[in-house]
Amino acid sequence: MAAPAPEPLAAAASVAQARRALADAFRKAGLDSPELDARLLAGHVLGLSHTELTLDGARPLGDQAAHALTVLATRRLGREPIARILGFKEFWGLPLRLNEATLVPRPETETVVEAALAAIDQNGPRTRTLRIADLGTGSGALLIALLTELPNATGAGTDLSADALAAARDNAARLCVTPRAEFAIGDFGAPLTGAFDLVVSNPPYIPSGDIAALAPEVHRDPRLALDGGADGLDAYRTIAGQARALLGDGGYLVVELGIGQEQAVATLFRKAGLAPSLARPDLSGIPRALSAHIARSRHDG
Ligand SMILES: C[S@@+](CC[C@H](N)C(=O)[O-])C[C@H]1O[C@@H](n2cnc3c(N)ncnc32)[C@H](O)[C@@H]1O
Repeated sequence: MAAPAPEPLAAAASVAQARRALADAFRKAGLDSPELDARLLAGHVLGLSHTELTLDGARPLGDQAAHALTVLATRRLGREPIARILGFKEFWGLPLRLNEATLVPRPETETVVEAALAAIDQNGPRTRTLRIADLGTGSGALLIALLTELPNATGAGTDLSADALAAARDNAARLCVTPRAEFAIGDFGAPLTGAFDLVVSNPPYIPSGDIAALAPEVHRDPRLALDGGADGLDAYRTIAGQARALLGDGGYLVVELGIGQEQAVATLFRKAGLAPSLARPDLSGIPRALSAHIARSRHDG
């Protein structure tokens, strides 16, 4: 189905009028956050912050901005996510650049960062030397966020997609963690050698059969980032099988969960010799980040 086109914006329209017109068009099309989307697109085209947009509300758009904004609004009405239109997404307060091969980082994934920091805090100060692995790093979101919080940590991110790794490397460079981050192509932990203090992952976890029914915006994410196999658990099986070799003494594995996956993933982890805790909930109360460490056998001191 062809994307609905907005009324072309007039060059003489003011910034405030243009924002209202876009928000109306987005609302009529049933988008979730019409005002926010209109503000982000207007701010992007005009190079203005939120405050500047309000202060400059009476200023006329001008030809170029009116055309550019109409083009971007047409893309949004075609259900292209704002982050893909802008080419970046903020995660943990960090602006991450995206490309076709990267998932748009989700706010709920910040729960994994919180759970990982809570696990680190159990064993000592955040300033100690640490080794971190991020399996399926995508844009580098989890690894880079953790390196910004843990000043003496180094880390490795892996992905099956070379293009995703290019985005992760670029983000690490722009956000000044490059000397502490390295990236490798391969199957989750396969390219890495332990021992890590922390292994994190937000793996693909949507059951293959559920993907067709996802919101149109999600279909812009690469299939490799979404598809967790028939029951959504393929990646957790691989990661559970690799975890003991990757984790050092007292090390933690922290993974993001899809809705309703806590028990199944905890069972997989137990079978792999790990001891999972209760999952940490995200802001909607959904169990989202599962932490586990290597289970001590009865013979361990
Ligand atoms: C759900 S996305 C998460 C991306 C990023 N960590 C984030 O939280 O925004 C999953 C990532 O795993 C990668 N991936 C899928 N299968 C993989 C595999 N077998 N080995 C390594 N990475 C894989 C995808 O390319 C994608 O970047």
